[in-house]
Parts: sequence; C-alpha cells; structure tokens
Amino acid sequence: MRSKLVAGNWKMHGSLSGNQGLLQAVRDGVKGNAAVAVCVPYPYLAQARAVLEGGSVAWGAQDVSEHAQGAFTGEVSGAMLVDFGCRYVLVGHSERRSFYGDTDAVVAAKFTAALKAGLTPVLCVGESLAEREAGTTGEVVTRQIDAVLSSSGVAAFSSAVVAYEPVWAIGTGRTASPAQAQEVHALIRQRFARDSAEVASGLQILYGGSVKPGNAKELFGQPDIDGGLIGGASLVAEDFLAICAAA
Ligand code: 13P
Repeated sequence: MRSKLVAGNWKMHGSLSGNQGLLQAVRDGVKGNAAVAVCVPYPYLAQARAVLEGGSVAWGAQDVSEHAQGAFTGEVSGAMLVDFGCRYVLVGHSERRSFYGDTDAVVAAKFTAALKAGLTPVLCVGESLAEREAGTTGEVVTRQIDAVLSSSGVAAFSSAVVAYEPVWAIGTGRTASPAQAQEVHALIRQRFARDSAEVASGLQILYGGSVKPGNAKELFGQPDIDGGLIGGASLVAEDFLAICAAA
C-alpha cells in the first residue's frame, strides 16, 4: 500500500502576521497517517521552518530555477531551498506553464535541478478544458510526463511525486469527479509501468483542483489517488486539517 500525502499550495497568498496562526494551527492540528506539507511563497520559507521544524509537517516551495547558480536575476536555486529546510518543490504547476512560459523542456530541467539539490519534486500535469473537450487529456498528460521521463529517466520518480491537476478544476469549484480523476491517475500509473512496474506501483500520484473537506474522502478513496495538492482550502486551517484527516 502506498502512503498518502497532502500538500498545500498557498500560491501568492499570505503575510507574516497572517501566516503565523495558520502554520501553528496546521502543526498542532495535524493527525492521521498521511504525510502533510505546505508549499509557501519564498519570503515565508524561514517562517515556515521556524514554526514547523521538529513537527510532522514538511514545507516546500512552489517553483525552482533550472540553474544551480549564477547571473539569473530573480531566480531561486534548489540549494537555496535546501538551505531553508525545504523537502518538496512544485514543478510545472499549470499557472507556471500558462503565465510564465514554463514549457515541457523547462519543467524537465527544473525537475532535474530539484532532484540534484536533494529536493522531492512534485511534477504537476493536467489538461485544459479545451483539451479535455477535444478528448486529448491522455495525450497531453502523457506528453508532459514523457518530457521529464526522457531527460531524467524513470528511476528518478522513486524520489518524486506526480500531481494531476486538471486546469479546468483549479480554483473553479469544479472538481473532477472521483471516476474522472481515477481514470487519469490510472493512465498516469500505466505510463510509468511501461518503464518500470516497481516505480509505478510505489509512485504517489496526488489529485489537485478544488479539493474541499466535502469531496476529499471520496477522491482519496480511489485506488490510484494517493492524496491531494490543495490550493484555496490550504489557506483555511480547519479546511486543510479536515482534508488531511480524510487522507
Ligand atoms: P484549488 O484547490 O484552489 O483549486 O487549487 C489547486 C491547485 O492549483 C493546487 O496546486
């Protein structure tokens, strides 16, 4: 049996004063068997470490540079994230892909850089509404995964996590049904199984997109859904803790 993971993605939300209570409540309130993490904006990594260190909740970032160091103004390297105690980093979130030009090749390079630095990359994949309606979900998700597989190889995924986040379900209140999500999760696992049955069976595949306390249990009950990547609901301690408990 794979263990479950619930990761919060705060996106560009928070303030030093507001975060304090949220982080403390998550640290104090988390129970159950699922691993829990929060991916916070860069300026709050030190705060996340200060509050969460020594507890069971891990922390991480939402993006990482594909470069190790150098003249790359505004970028943050994997080693810098490790300096702040990060365990996880999101790569290829759909908002990075659509607003900041993270192509499949860039995402693959960031994935490699994260692993090299000793981080656990959470590779985000997912189709847009138009792609789903055109019946190309499988094709899109496979293309996004193949870009990383061809540069990093399947063995890299024994130290990584995949998150399926259909773009049409992110922040829209429109969740993929458990059956819709399970179908894509199974397809993702089959894709990995083509390269390594062992890696595929151990791989945590998270679902993200309008996960709420009311739908988490059913989603996480699907055979190939190993937890969630939580946006909006990770900003409300009570909701996030309820989702963690559901896992
Ligand atoms: P929501 O949970 O707000 O839909 O966001 C999902 C997401 O993008 C997490 O990375």
